[in-house]
Amino acid sequence: GEIVYLDATDSTNLRAKDLAAGGASEGTIVIAEMQTAGRGRKGRGWFSPPRQGIYVSLILRPTMTPSEAPGITLMTGVAAAEALLSLTDLDVRIRWPNDLMVGGRKIAGILTEISTEMDRIDHVVVGLGVNVNNRHEDLHPQIRESATSVLIETGQVLARAGLIRAILEHFETSYAIFSQKGFEPFRQRWKELSGIIGRCIVVEMIGRTLAGEVLDIDPEGLLILRDDEGCRHRIVSGDVSDRS
Ligand code: BTN
Repeated sequence: GEIVYLDATDSTNLRAKDLAAGGASEGTIVIAEMQTAGRGRKGRGWFSPPRQGIYVSLILRPTMTPSEAPGITLMTGVAAAEALLSLTDLDVRIRWPNDLMVGGRKIAGILTEISTEMDRIDHVVVGLGVNVNNRHEDLHPQIRESATSVLIETGQVLARAGLIRAILEHFETSYAIFSQKGFEPFRQRWKELSGIIGRCIVVEMIGRTLAGEVLDIDPEGLLILRDDEGCRHRIVSGDVSDRS
């Protein structure tokens, strides 16, 4: 696929969505040195200072039903975690559905945007942001306590090009498997990296909050939660925190 490399842009996800709407093929990659309006889930931003992090978006055209698409985010989380693990000795964990964490702080996030046409997927944009060479004092005050970077955790500068390469290689291999078999081949590894099964958590969703014990992640990547009344819920996305 084509690689669109930008010095600066508003958001690589927005650029990728424009390109996809214009017919760009699967495998097109948009990567930027900085974003002026980096986007996170739920309308939040993504702090994207020049040359400190990785800001990349991938255009996919999967032939699957929209219900299988959430698995793409989870599979991408596994691929990005494996890439980080291959280059660093960080204890990388996954926080469902889309955050990579080190020591309880966020080091990377994934924003998956699905565009459907007549109940079919037209394209998916998977956006990944990784905090790589940010120093603690470089982090925006709003996220200084909740975020971290490779540099903060290891004390060493990591060449972003090598990390991008590792991420894209892991992603490519994983996506080929995902296209054939869905999320299932990644499920076990995802459970190991997330450590979420069996934990008591609170999930904040748009419009409601649920608390309970995580029983499993299902083959499509939905979280199975049992609440205090014993009712089971299948949840596609939300903000997770530990129940205190
Ligand atoms: C989140 O944690 O809420 C998701 C953050 C995703 C950030 C990445 S950076 C590259 C891509 N472009 C964006 O505007 N967002 C994603």
